[in-house]
Parts: sequence; C-alpha cells; structure tokens
Amino acid sequence: MIVPMEAQIVEAARVLRAGGLVAFPTETVYGLGADASNANAVGRIFAVKGRPASHPLIVHLHHAAQIQHWAREIPDAAHELAARFWPGPLTLVLKRAPAVLDAVTGGQDSIGLRVPSHAVAQALLRAFDGGIAAPSANRFGRVSATTAQHVRDELGEGVDLVLDGGACAVGIESTILDLSTGAPVLLRPGCITLEELSACLHAPVARSGAGAPRAPGGLPAHYAPQLPLYLVPRSALDAVVREEAMRGPVAVLARHARPAASAAAVWMIAPPDAPGYAHHLYAALRQLDRSGCTRILVEAPPETPDWFAVQDRLTRAVAGSGSAQQPSARIGVADAT
Ligand code: TXA
Ligand code: MG
Repeated sequence: MIVPMEAQIVEAARVLRAGGLVAFPTETVYGLGADASNANAVGRIFAVKGRPASHPLIVHLHHAAQIQHWAREIPDAAHELAARFWPGPLTLVLKRAPAVLDAVTGGQDSIGLRVPSHAVAQALLRAFDGGIAAPSANRFGRVSATTAQHVRDELGEGVDLVLDGGACAVGIESTILDLSTGAPVLLRPGCITLEELSACLHAPVARSGAGAPRAPGGLPAHYAPQLPLYLVPRSALDAVVREEAMRGPVAVLARHARPAASAAAVWMIAPPDAPGYAHHLYAALRQLDRSGCTRILVEAPPETPDWFAVQDRLTRAVAGSGSAQQPSARIGVADAT
C-alpha cells in the first residue's frame, strides 16, 4: 500500500514525539532524527549509529527564528548568514542555550543548528514543531546515505520509520561554520563555499586548523567505503590501474571515458563539474564497494576552490578506507597534481 507523504509525515511526527527514530531526507544527505529535547531518544541515535557519545549532533529547525531557544549570545553574523543561506545546506555552531541537553552537544558549550530546505524535512519540522537532532543516517565513519534505500541498507531495523524523499540534491554534508568562539571558523567545507561565507560577512573566514577537530566530520578518517581507496592523478591512472590489476580486480571512478586498453574491471564516469560530482559521489562509492573489485581508484579531482568540499571528502575516504596499509600507499594524494 502506498501511503501519501502527508500521512507519512503525520506518523513520523508521532514517532518522534514518542521517542522514536525517523530517517528523513535533507538537501545534503539523509538524517537520522530524534526529538532533540528527549535524552533517551537522542541516546538511541548514538546506539544505532555506533557513534561515540562525545560527538555532538546538529539540531534541525523549521525556521531561523527558533535559534533563540537553542543558542545564547547570538552574534549578528549568525542572523546575516541565516537570512542569506537558510533554509539551506549551512550549519552554524553557536553558544548553546542553558536548557539544551548534554546528550545533543556531547557536553560542549556550543550547539550546531541548521534549517534544511528539503520539502520533506521542512514538512516534518513543521508537523513536529520542535528541534530534531539528526546526524547523517549512516553507521559511524561510513559514507553518508543519499537515498532512502541507502539508509535501510545501513541501519535496517534500528530506524522506526524512513521517509523517502528521493536522492539528495547536494549529496555531501552541510558546510559547518563555527561562530561560538569569536572569529568565524570553517569546520567542514560543503557546497556553500568559504568565498560565499566571506562575501556575506564582508570578512575573511578561516579554515579550522589541523589541531584537535571537534567535529568527527573533521577527523582525518571519515566518510569511508569498505574497500581500500586511492586518489590517483589522471596522468598516472593508466599505469596504476595496470599495476593494481595484478593484485585483483580494480574499480575506477574517473571523470573521463574508459581508455580502450584499460585493465580496470569496472569503470564508472562521474560528472565533470563539482556540484554534479558531489551529488553522485556517495552513491558511486557504495556501488563500487559492491562491485566485486578489491580496490577503488579515484581520479584525483581538480584542486580549484569549487572542488574543495569534494576533495575534503575523498581525502578522508582514503584515510578511512585502510588504503594507507596497502602496498600501493605510495600512490597517495600527495602525488596528485
Ligand atoms: O548535512 C548535514 O549536516 C547532515 C544533515 C542530516 O543535516 N548532518 C550531518 O550530521 O552531517 P553529522 O552528525 O553526520 O555531522 C555533523 C557534524 C559532526 O561532525 C559534528 O561533530 C559537528 O557537525 N557538530 C555538531 N555540533 C557541533 C558543535 N557544537 N561544535 C562542533 N561541531 C559540531
Ligand atoms: Mg556524518
């Protein structure tokens, strides 16, 4: 039986109120949502994901005006960014309001807030009428889910209800900007770029330093497929495929057509532009993971600013995939040109 989306959303809001978990689409990736004011419900998120409790969650809101309930000492910059980019793929880290649960913030004095633009997320937030704490709907450290089927594959029975809103338009997680410590700091790059944030604020925005990242999305090993994954410059791709193919079948994610004599077992072509590439990236990695190959070679993307967020996710995927332990570790991102 096909249940209309309106009825599914009423049911999803009921599940959230009862302390259940609802996976829902956003414009970036699918979220695994719980009532942000219910500590037990929030605790279930960590159990289902296998995520350490110290890692804070983003609270999703229906409207920017609601940030008053969740944050304190809100700087003008937050209002300016919210007016420009919300609803949309930007998360703002602000000082938390006193009533916010420690379970949501991982005990930190700050909170991540976002107003998503996806129509299903918006409808759910309107029906629920509260904050929904939601990390990406994947197991900890793995590739985020960009379709409802990915969520079911990853989390199975752990989720009470999955709202299917189709494939996520952006395809990689939101840009995270920390406004809780004074000067704005980019914690995670995303489709809203450093340049757009700086232009909106009429001030430079710093990237987070290499030291102690507070976001697991900022850990070196994250967003990883199961198979070893390598980034290889286009100029070296043919030779590396030939060499790696001697050890087992090789899957390639390239931005150009398969050369006639390639030794690759699987050759997937990704879109040539950064937004198109980001949209397909996680679905492509999931597919290549299941291709029967023993390793994935990804043609290194351009190093221009528009590819910054994609580059970031691929670099973390290399670190998280265990490829550093493989004999081909010499084919690292450092070789990329
Ligand atoms: O696009 C997205 O942001 C998706 C959708 C579902 O909204 N959510 C998402 O959540 O990617 P998650 O938990 O997988 O990644 C959110 C990141 C985490 O790395 C978390 O540590 C960081 O945001 N974060 C949340 N609150 C924070 C805070 N108060 N300070 C620093 N980082 C924070
Ligand atoms: Mg995540």
